[in-house]
Amino acid sequence: MREPFNASVLSLYPEMFPGPLGTSLSGQALENGLWRLEMVDIRDFASDKHRTVDDAPLGGGAGMVMRPDVVDAAIHKAKENQSVERPLIYLTPRGKPLVQERVRELAQSPGVILLCGRFEGVDERVLERHKVEEISIGDFVLSGGELAAMVLLDATIRLLPGVMGSEASLEEESFEKGLLEYPHYTRPREWEGMKVPEVLLTGHHEKIRSWRRQRAEETTRKRRPDLWEAYAKTEKNEG
Ligand SMILES: C[S@@+](CC[C@H](N)C(=O)[O-])C[C@H]1O[C@@H](n2cnc3c(N)ncnc32)[C@H](O)[C@@H]1O
Repeated sequence: MREPFNASVLSLYPEMFPGPLGTSLSGQALENGLWRLEMVDIRDFASDKHRTVDDAPLGGGAGMVMRPDVVDAAIHKAKENQSVERPLIYLTPRGKPLVQERVRELAQSPGVILLCGRFEGVDERVLERHKVEEISIGDFVLSGGELAAMVLLDATIRLLPGVMGSEASLEEESFEKGLLEYPHYTRPREWEGMKVPEVLLTGHHEKIRSWRRQRAEETTRKRRPDLWEAYAKTEKNEG
Protein backbone atom coordinates (compact mmCIF):
# COMPACT_ATOMS: atom_id res chain seq x y z
CA MET A 1 0.00 0.00 0.00
CA ARG A 2 1.33 3.45 -0.96
CA GLU A 3 1.75 5.99 1.86
CA PRO A 4 -0.80 8.82 1.70
CA PHE A 5 0.30 11.88 -0.29
CA ASN A 6 1.50 14.26 2.37
CA ALA A 7 0.66 17.97 1.89
CA SER A 8 1.96 20.58 4.33
CA VAL A 9 0.69 24.10 3.74
CA LEU A 10 2.39 27.11 5.33
CA SER A 11 -0.04 30.00 5.59
CA LEU A 12 -1.10 33.01 7.65
CA TYR A 13 -4.70 31.87 7.14
CA PRO A 14 -4.77 28.14 7.97
CA GLU A 15 -8.51 28.34 8.57
CA MET A 16 -8.99 28.64 4.78
CA PHE A 17 -8.14 24.90 4.50
CA PRO A 18 -9.24 22.33 3.50
CA GLY A 19 -11.98 24.66 2.13
CA PRO A 20 -13.09 23.39 -1.27
CA LEU A 21 -10.58 20.52 -1.02
CA GLY A 22 -12.79 19.07 1.71
CA THR A 23 -15.63 18.40 -0.77
CA SER A 24 -16.21 16.16 -3.78
CA LEU A 25 -13.33 14.09 -5.17
CA SER A 26 -10.52 15.54 -3.03
CA GLY A 27 -12.72 15.55 0.09
CA GLN A 28 -13.57 11.88 -0.36
CA ALA A 29 -9.90 11.09 -0.95
CA LEU A 30 -8.98 12.99 2.22
CA GLU A 31 -11.56 11.01 4.16
CA ASN A 32 -10.29 7.76 2.65
CA GLY A 33 -6.73 8.57 3.71
CA LEU A 34 -5.32 8.84 0.16
CA TRP A 35 -3.81 12.19 1.07
CA ARG A 36 -3.05 14.03 4.31
CA LEU A 37 -3.14 17.75 5.06
CA GLU A 38 -0.99 19.45 7.67
CA MET A 39 -1.47 23.17 8.21
CA VAL A 40 1.44 25.21 9.55
CA ASP A 41 0.37 28.61 10.87
CA ILE A 42 3.26 30.93 9.95
CA ARG A 43 2.25 33.34 12.71
CA ASP A 44 3.11 30.71 15.34
CA PHE A 45 6.77 31.28 14.46
CA ALA A 46 6.85 35.02 15.14
CA SER A 47 9.12 35.74 18.07
CA ASP A 48 7.81 39.04 19.46
CA LYS A 49 4.77 39.63 21.61
CA HIS A 50 2.82 41.22 18.75
CA ARG A 51 3.42 38.08 16.64
CA THR A 52 4.87 40.15 13.81
CA VAL A 53 5.45 38.26 10.55
CA ASP A 54 6.20 41.13 8.15
CA ASP A 55 8.22 44.30 7.86
CA ALA A 56 8.68 47.24 5.49
CA PRO A 57 10.60 46.59 2.24
CA LEU A 58 14.24 47.65 2.48
CA GLY A 59 14.98 50.16 -0.24
CA GLY A 60 11.48 51.61 0.12
CA GLY A 61 8.28 50.99 -1.76
CA ALA A 62 4.72 50.05 -1.00
CA GLY A 63 3.45 47.19 1.13
CA MET A 64 5.12 44.77 3.51
CA VAL A 65 7.41 41.75 3.11
CA MET A 66 7.27 38.47 5.04
CA ARG A 67 10.30 38.12 7.31
CA PRO A 68 12.89 35.44 6.43
CA ASP A 69 13.42 34.25 10.04
CA VAL A 70 9.71 33.62 10.59
CA VAL A 71 9.20 31.83 7.26
CA ASP A 72 12.39 29.81 7.82
CA ALA A 73 11.13 28.55 11.19
CA ALA A 74 7.80 27.54 9.60
CA ILE A 75 9.64 25.64 6.84
CA HIS A 76 11.75 23.81 9.43
CA LYS A 77 8.58 22.83 11.26
CA ALA A 78 7.11 21.32 8.05
CA LYS A 79 10.35 19.46 7.33
CA GLU A 80 10.72 18.23 10.92
CA ASN A 81 8.49 15.20 10.64
CA GLN A 82 9.09 14.16 7.06
CA SER A 83 10.76 10.80 6.53
CA VAL A 84 11.36 11.45 2.81
CA GLU A 85 12.10 14.75 1.13
CA ARG A 86 9.18 16.49 -0.56
CA PRO A 87 9.28 19.33 -3.13
CA LEU A 88 9.13 22.71 -1.39
CA ILE A 89 7.11 25.14 -3.48
CA TYR A 90 6.41 28.85 -3.11
CA LEU A 91 3.28 29.96 -4.99
CA THR A 92 4.09 33.26 -6.66
CA PRO A 93 3.23 35.11 -9.89
CA ARG A 94 6.99 35.20 -10.49
CA GLY A 95 7.17 31.41 -10.65
CA LYS A 96 7.22 29.01 -13.58
CA PRO A 97 3.68 28.49 -14.90
CA LEU A 98 2.01 25.40 -13.46
CA VAL A 99 1.55 22.80 -16.21
CA GLN A 100 0.05 19.31 -16.30
CA GLU A 101 3.47 17.72 -16.72
CA ARG A 102 4.63 19.11 -13.35
CA VAL A 103 1.29 18.15 -11.79
CA ARG A 104 1.84 14.56 -12.97
CA GLU A 105 5.31 14.53 -11.42
CA LEU A 106 4.00 15.93 -8.14
CA ALA A 107 1.32 13.22 -8.00
CA GLN A 108 4.16 10.66 -8.14
CA SER A 109 6.05 12.29 -5.27
CA PRO A 110 5.53 11.54 -1.56
CA GLY A 111 3.85 14.92 -1.10
CA VAL A 112 4.56 18.66 -1.14
CA ILE A 113 5.33 21.54 1.17
CA LEU A 114 3.53 24.66 -0.07
CA LEU A 115 4.43 28.16 1.05
CA CYS A 116 1.64 30.73 0.66
CA GLY A 117 2.71 34.35 0.48
CA ARG A 118 0.79 37.43 1.56
CA PHE A 119 1.49 41.18 1.32
CA GLU A 120 4.23 41.86 -1.30
CA GLY A 121 5.65 38.37 -0.85
CA VAL A 122 8.53 36.67 0.97
CA ASP A 123 12.08 37.89 1.67
CA GLU A 124 14.24 36.51 -1.17
CA ARG A 125 16.95 35.10 1.13
CA VAL A 126 14.75 32.42 2.65
CA LEU A 127 13.77 31.25 -0.84
CA GLU A 128 17.46 31.02 -1.76
CA ARG A 129 18.47 29.31 1.47
CA HIS A 130 15.90 26.51 1.00
CA LYS A 131 16.26 26.33 -2.81
CA VAL A 132 12.53 26.79 -3.08
CA GLU A 133 10.79 25.96 -6.38
CA GLU A 134 8.58 28.88 -7.49
CA ILE A 135 5.30 28.17 -9.27
CA SER A 136 2.64 30.52 -10.66
CA ILE A 137 -0.93 29.55 -11.47
CA GLY A 138 -1.29 32.25 -14.11
CA ASP A 139 -0.43 35.75 -15.23
CA PHE A 140 -2.55 37.60 -12.69
CA VAL A 141 -2.05 38.67 -9.08
CA LEU A 142 -4.01 37.05 -6.25
CA SER A 143 -4.12 38.56 -2.78
CA GLY A 144 -2.48 35.47 -1.28
CA GLY A 145 -0.99 32.10 -2.14
CA GLU A 146 -3.73 30.03 -0.48
CA LEU A 147 -6.05 29.77 -3.49
CA ALA A 148 -3.05 29.01 -5.70
CA ALA A 149 -2.01 26.23 -3.30
CA MET A 150 -5.54 24.82 -3.48
CA VAL A 151 -5.44 24.86 -7.28
CA LEU A 152 -2.13 22.98 -7.28
CA LEU A 153 -3.42 20.46 -4.72
CA ASP A 154 -6.72 19.90 -6.52
CA ALA A 155 -4.95 19.19 -9.82
CA THR A 156 -2.49 16.83 -8.08
CA ILE A 157 -4.90 14.94 -5.84
CA ARG A 158 -7.18 13.88 -8.70
CA LEU A 159 -4.19 12.10 -10.28
CA LEU A 160 -3.32 10.09 -7.15
CA PRO A 161 -3.93 6.37 -7.60
CA GLY A 162 -7.40 5.41 -6.41
CA VAL A 163 -8.86 8.95 -6.45
CA MET A 164 -10.54 8.91 -9.88
CA GLY A 165 -12.74 6.01 -10.90
CA SER A 166 -11.67 5.64 -14.51
CA GLU A 167 -7.98 5.94 -15.36
CA ALA A 168 -8.93 5.95 -19.06
CA SER A 169 -10.70 9.28 -18.74
CA LEU A 170 -7.43 10.80 -17.48
CA GLU A 171 -5.54 9.68 -20.57
CA GLU A 172 -7.98 11.46 -22.86
CA GLU A 173 -7.85 14.79 -21.05
CA SER A 174 -6.62 18.17 -22.18
CA PHE A 175 -2.80 18.41 -22.23
CA GLU A 176 -2.23 14.66 -21.91
CA LYS A 177 -1.22 14.42 -25.57
CA GLY A 178 -0.22 18.04 -25.90
CA LEU A 179 -3.68 18.94 -27.22
CA LEU A 180 -6.81 20.48 -25.73
CA GLU A 181 -9.66 18.03 -25.39
CA TYR A 182 -12.34 17.34 -28.03
CA PRO A 183 -15.94 18.55 -27.37
CA HIS A 184 -18.33 16.40 -25.34
CA TYR A 185 -21.99 15.56 -25.94
CA THR A 186 -24.60 13.62 -24.00
CA ARG A 187 -28.35 12.93 -24.23
CA PRO A 188 -30.73 14.22 -25.50
CA ARG A 189 -29.57 13.61 -29.07
CA GLU A 190 -31.37 16.77 -30.13
CA TRP A 191 -31.63 19.79 -27.84
CA GLU A 192 -33.26 23.09 -28.84
CA GLY A 193 -32.85 22.19 -32.51
CA MET A 194 -29.16 21.38 -32.09
CA LYS A 195 -28.09 17.85 -33.03
CA VAL A 196 -25.22 15.78 -31.69
CA PRO A 197 -22.63 15.16 -34.45
CA GLU A 198 -23.77 12.12 -36.44
CA VAL A 199 -20.46 10.25 -36.17
CA LEU A 200 -20.88 9.90 -32.38
CA LEU A 201 -24.06 7.86 -32.92
CA THR A 202 -22.54 5.37 -35.36
CA GLY A 203 -20.82 3.14 -32.79
CA HIS A 204 -17.83 3.08 -35.17
CA HIS A 205 -14.92 3.43 -32.71
CA GLU A 206 -12.20 4.15 -35.27
CA LYS A 207 -14.25 6.91 -36.97
CA ILE A 208 -15.12 8.41 -33.59
CA ARG A 209 -11.49 8.41 -32.47
CA SER A 210 -10.41 10.07 -35.68
CA TRP A 211 -13.20 12.72 -35.48
CA ARG A 212 -12.25 13.50 -31.88
CA ARG A 213 -8.56 13.80 -32.75
CA GLN A 214 -9.42 16.17 -35.60
CA ARG A 215 -11.59 18.37 -33.34
CA ALA A 216 -8.91 18.38 -30.62
CA GLU A 217 -6.33 19.51 -33.17
CA GLU A 218 -8.64 22.19 -34.59
CA THR A 219 -9.43 23.64 -31.15
CA THR A 220 -5.78 23.64 -30.09
CA ARG A 221 -4.65 25.33 -33.31
CA LYS A 222 -7.28 28.09 -32.96
CA ARG A 223 -7.11 28.70 -29.23
CA ARG A 224 -3.55 27.88 -28.22
CA PRO A 225 -1.01 28.48 -30.98
CA ASP A 226 1.77 27.91 -28.41
CA LEU A 227 0.58 24.36 -27.67
CA TRP A 228 -0.13 23.73 -31.32
CA GLU A 229 3.37 24.64 -32.38
CA ALA A 230 4.92 22.28 -29.82
CA TYR A 231 2.50 19.47 -30.79
CA ALA A 232 3.08 19.93 -34.53
CA LYS A 233 6.84 19.69 -33.92
CA THR A 234 6.61 16.38 -32.02
CA GLU A 235 4.18 14.96 -34.59
CA LYS A 236 6.67 15.81 -37.33
CA ASN A 237 9.55 14.23 -35.40
CA GLU A 238 7.61 11.08 -34.61
CA GLY A 239 5.89 10.80 -37.96
C1 LIG B 1 -0.35 40.34 -3.59
S1 LIG B 1 0.55 38.90 -3.99
C2 LIG B 1 2.19 39.54 -4.17
C3 LIG B 1 2.52 39.91 -5.58
C4 LIG B 1 3.97 40.37 -5.76
N1 LIG B 1 4.21 41.62 -5.13
C5 LIG B 1 4.30 40.47 -7.25
O1 LIG B 1 4.06 41.53 -7.84
O2 LIG B 1 4.75 39.46 -7.83
C6 LIG B 1 0.63 38.03 -2.48
C7 LIG B 1 0.89 36.56 -2.60
O3 LIG B 1 -0.13 35.95 -3.38
C8 LIG B 1 0.38 34.78 -4.03
N2 LIG B 1 0.06 34.88 -5.46
C9 LIG B 1 -0.44 35.97 -6.09
N3 LIG B 1 -0.64 35.73 -7.40
C10 LIG B 1 -0.26 34.45 -7.63
C11 LIG B 1 -0.20 33.63 -8.80
N4 LIG B 1 -0.58 34.07 -9.98
N5 LIG B 1 0.23 32.36 -8.66
C12 LIG B 1 0.64 31.90 -7.46
N6 LIG B 1 0.62 32.64 -6.31
C13 LIG B 1 0.18 33.90 -6.39
C14 LIG B 1 1.88 34.74 -3.72
O4 LIG B 1 2.08 33.80 -2.68
C15 LIG B 1 2.18 36.15 -3.26
O5 LIG B 1 3.27 36.18 -2.38
